[in-house]
Parts: sequence; structure tokens; C-alpha cells
Amino acid sequence: MTRWLVAGAGGMLGIDLVAALAARGETVTGLDRAGLDVTDAASVTDAIAAFRPDVVVNCSAWTAVDDAEAAEERALAVNAGGAARLAAGCAVAGARMVQVSTDYVFAGDLVARDAARPYAEDDVPAPRTAYGRTKLAGERAVLDRLPGSGYVVRTAWLYGAHGGNFVRTMIKLEDQRPAVDVVDDQHGQPTWTADVASQIIALIHAAAPPGIYHATSSGQTTWFGLAREIFGLLGADPARVRPVSSSALSRPAPRPAYSVLGHGAWARLGVPPIGDWRTALHQAFPELLAAQRGDVAGATAAPGR
Ligand SMILES: NC(=O)c1ccc[n+]([C@@H]2O[C@H](COP(=O)([O-])OP(=O)(O)OC[C@H]3O[C@@H](n4cnc5c(N)ncnc54)[C@H](OP(=O)(O)O)[C@@H]3O)[C@@H](O)[C@H]2O)c1
Repeated sequence: MTRWLVAGAGGMLGIDLVAALAARGETVTGLDRAGLDVTDAASVTDAIAAFRPDVVVNCSAWTAVDDAEAAEERALAVNAGGAARLAAGCAVAGARMVQVSTDYVFAGDLVARDAARPYAEDDVPAPRTAYGRTKLAGERAVLDRLPGSGYVVRTAWLYGAHGGNFVRTMIKLEDQRPAVDVVDDQHGQPTWTADVASQIIALIHAAAPPGIYHATSSGQTTWFGLAREIFGLLGADPARVRPVSSSALSRPAPRPAYSVLGHGAWARLGVPPIGDWRTALHQAFPELLAAQRGDVAGATAAPGR
């Protein structure tokens, strides 16, 4: 029986990962920040000693992309320091570790990319934001400390029922505005937290070789394409979503124009990657709609991360 410990279990992905593990009958302990603060060495040591996990999944992170630009040291303490502490604890305990990471480790520059080829797992990272730099440092901290038992699972464009995200924001805006302007020049893979959870579980059950894996949906679209699909699912006229350029929106952290991640490592492992983004959205939508309608104040605009 595999014992799982999930750090950051109060977050959007952490909640769905703990639920997915429990639903599969796994032995799982999920700890939110109050139960396990990854910036506190004693908290990490105590949690690993108390629960003696076989696998630790780090879903904790500083995910405020814009705020990180002016607070990189604090973001680093969570995203790299926290990952390093958990990895050191896993090394002592003989546990495997999954570090959840992001497309923001790449430059995301469409112009410089050769015919928009998806980023391979071993493509050279070149983060353009403070958030991306801190997440890359977290990846390296884990892979350096756990060369035989560390995994980096990069995801992108996440949505789920238990957090603010783009899908929930669009559900809210469709109700409130006659039209919404959405950027049409950023390309990526909208990805459901439940699918990432399943993929992490499959990775561990497959006894996968350590290294980097990309847990994003297959296919690709733009935020505009995603918003139109959401309006369609709501029975609203998709023409109420209007395309705009990123240059119309100024933000502290630049958003990647191209965030599509390749799935070669899954093919080598013999585990199917996450399926098409549109299929997943349709499957997830009733749960997101119920969450949003039950908590109309709960969603904030949070594309990316
Ligand atoms: N959301 C996306 O679109 C996206 C895209 C790519 C990658 N990712 C990655 O996916 C993972 C999960 O993201 P998410 O969307 O689930 O983020 P989230 O909802 O913001 O969850 C992150 C959790 O980490 C917790 N946390 C912050 N500092 C902590 C600390 N010092 N110790 C312990 N826990 C701490 C937060 O607790 P508080 O609420 O108390 O701060 C929060 O519950 C992260 O690694 C993120 O980088 C996300």
C-alpha cells in the first residue's frame, strides 16, 4: 500500500489530488499551509516523520504571478526553498517526490519558435518572469536532491472547481456583461485539475523513471478560443467574446505567447497523455458551473500560472 502525503492540499490542484487519491482507495494525508508550511524546516521534517510517506506530492506554491515580480525573494522561499526542503526530507525518508511545475519555465516566445513546436520535456528553460524563475529553481532543487526518485510534473492553464481560474471567471462574466474582450494571441492547453491528479497517480503507479513529465491537455487553443467554448457551453452566443491583442493589456509579468507542452515522456513510458482540452472542459463543466453558481464571489481572473 502506497502512503501519499500532499503538501499544499488547500489549493485548487491539491484539493482535487487528495480527492482523487481517496476515491481510488489510496492512503493519503493532505496538509494545507496550516498543517505543513514548506518554508518552515521543522514543519516539513515533522510531517514526513509523522506520516512516513512513500510519495510526497508538492502542490504548494506562490502562484501570484504578477505579485512575484516585486516579491521574488518571498516567492523563491516557497517555490524553491519549499521544494528543496521537501526533497531533502524525502531523501532522508526514502520517499519519492512529485514537484508540480509550470509552462512558465519556458520563454513562451512564439516568434522565435520553429513552426510552434510544442516544448519538449528537455527543452532548455528560459523563464521571463520572477514566478517562472522561482518555479525553475524548485524543479532543479528536486531533481538535484532526488536523482533516482524525483519527478517534475509541469502543467499549465489549470482550471478546477476549487479555486479562482479563467473558466470560472468566464462563467461569471457571461452573466454580468454583454460582451467580453479576451486575448487571442496566447496559445496553450487548458487543463483540468482532475486530469492532472489522475496523471500524477498514473505516473507513480507506472513506476516511471525519474525526470520531467508534462501534464497538460492535448490539442491547443487561445484564451479567446477557450472563452468562446465556455460561452457555447453556457448556451450563450460565442460572438459576445471578442478577440483582443495582449498589447491591449498591461501586466507586471509578461504572459507567454506560446505555452504548448509536448507529451513525449508519456509515450516513452507507455502511459497515455491527458486527452483533448475540449473533451475535458465539457466533462468538467457541470462541476465548475455548480461551484461558480454556488460561490459567485469566489472566482477571480487568473489566467495562466
Ligand atoms: N493555476 C494554474 O494555472 C497553474 C498553471 C501551471 C502550474 N501550476 C502549478 O500547479 C500547482 C498548484 O497550483 P494551484 O493552481 O493549485 O495553486 P493554488 O490554488 O494557489 O494553491 C497553492 C497552495 O499552496 C499554498 N501555499 C502557499 N504557500 C505555502 C507554504 N509556505 N506552505 C504550504 N503551502 C503553501 C497556498 O496556501 P494559501 O492559500 O494559504 O496561500 C495554496 O493553498 C503549483 O505548483 C503551481 O505553480 C498552476
